[in-house]
Amino acid sequence: MRGLVLAAGLLSALTVSAAAEDSRMAIDLPPDVKVQFLEHMRTHMISLNDVIQLMANGKIREAGALARKEMAIGAGKGFGRFMPPEFREIGFEFHKAADDFARATADLPEPPDAAAWSKAMNGLAGITMRCNGCHAAFRVK
Ligand code: HEC
Repeated sequence: MRGLVLAAGLLSALTVSAAAEDSRMAIDLPPDVKVQFLEHMRTHMISLNDVIQLMANGKIREAGALARKEMAIGAGKGFGRFMPPEFREIGFEFHKAADDFARATADLPEPPDAAAWSKAMNGLAGITMRCNGCHAAFRVK
């Protein structure tokens, strides 16, 4: 019994500290913009998956073209105007990484040799690094 009370106390302490340790900057968005923003984020996950599936099938040029179409500059929905400058900066880097990936893969051999694989994977890592970096820094309220 005492153990149980102790465990319950520990659990609530852990919950509180987990919340307190969330150091991400919280962005305040109008409710409808928030819904659209998160929906748009989920399409990024879908696009990333599609890109990786194409690569797994050796279609790296197509993977690059898809990344550019779905994630490069101009593919954004204009959420930037609601965002702090640091967010916009990472957002810009993200879109640029997608464009870099498309350019890096545009003339690679298919099926790719080892060097081509390495180049393509580097480009892809440049994209996911930005997904990750922004998620570590920001959340929405
Ligand atoms: C410039 C910033 C930024 C970039 C780049 C970014 N995201 Fe996000 N994403 C966010 C923020 C902010 C949230 C909200 C997180 C929260 O509130 O906990 C989010 C949420 C999400 C969600 C959850 C959506 C939901 O319905 O809750 C997914 C999935 C996601 N992002 C995928 C991605 C993928 C995949 C990439 C890269 C291909 C990416 N994001 C790039 C900022 C970014």
